Amino acid sequence: MSPINKAILLVGGKGTRLAPLTTNTPKPMLKIAGAPVTEHQIVKAREAGISEIVLATSYLADVFEPYFGDGSRFGMKIRYAYETQPLGTGGAIANAAQLLELGANESLFIFNGDVLSSHDLIAQSELHLKSGAAVTLHLVEVEDARAYGCVPIGADSKVLQFLEKMDNPIAKTINAGCYIFSNQALQQIPKGAVVSVERETFPALLNSGQNIFGYVDGGYWIDMGTPESMIRASRDLISNPALSKATPKVINHTVMMREVQLHASSRVGEGSYLESGVVIEANSIVNGSIIGENAHIESDVLIENSYIAPQSRVTSGSKLRGEIFGF
Ligand code: GTP
Repeated sequence: MSPINKAILLVGGKGTRLAPLTTNTPKPMLKIAGAPVTEHQIVKAREAGISEIVLATSYLADVFEPYFGDGSRFGMKIRYAYETQPLGTGGAIANAAQLLELGANESLFIFNGDVLSSHDLIAQSELHLKSGAAVTLHLVEVEDARAYGCVPIGADSKVLQFLEKMDNPIAKTINAGCYIFSNQALQQIPKGAVVSVERETFPALLNSGQNIFGYVDGGYWIDMGTPESMIRASRDLISNPALSKATPKVINHTVMMREVQLHASSRVGEGSYLESGVVIEANSIVNGSIIGENAHIESDVLIENSYIAPQSRVTSGSKLRGEIFGF
């Protein structure tokens, strides 16, 4: 069990890269592999021994509490912080931390609300406590870091720099969106102000001589912030059910919710997720896709690696590959 048992989950962003999926549903509440992204994260946190979480909400804030309640359904304590004006990732952390009674020497986890990862939270917390770092970041290695800012570390795992996106990144390690903050580091984020933890807080901590450590883990990791990566994340979690205990039972490489009507001549597979009330008529094939609630797929349709909006209708003979359909 992780010796660090409190956490903040950042769920208040607008999720613009996922528009129009995020017009009425905040990104963390979008369902992949049968459960909202936030639920996959909460269950992972609980499994590592985290018992108290504050959700830092802002955009479409009202939808979280009706679903997660006080957390007892998940075996933990969940509370909700709210920002009238989005305060950015750093401002959100400072605001939400006021709901947690942290001891002077206590540390807490911060999770970006759009990352799914199998990394070892306990090992990350052990590195943090052993090194006495101000902050310990989860880092992942990517083949091509050009699309990200990179975070080079030394042989002792100390973070050397935070670098913006560049054409020739000097390291393959990138910020994976899960941090442990000591209470002292947390107190250095200004309250009530718009602050970016990535662009302002981390560089400022380094510049003032404080230690930031990087915990590199080669496990599964995905930022589901784009339509393509969201569909891929759902497929991955279904293909490998060990990745999340929040994924409902997988049967024939598929998660099907209640009252799905699948014609005997149609086939569904390769990590597809069918929400409740979906109807699929004759001779259709669905692979690697998310089909929203009550969507109706007519006959002779092919759907691959796509997202079909709830309540929408795909007409007979359609071929959809890598598409967001029905918005
Ligand atoms: P894009 O607009 O598509 O970039 O998505 P986003 O709004 O989610 O931004 P980003 O992916 O950079 O955010 C990382 C995490 O921080 C996500 O889980 C967001 O929900 C969260 N987040 C971003 N900005 C804020 C904010 O101002 N307040 C709160 N509470 N959370 C935020």
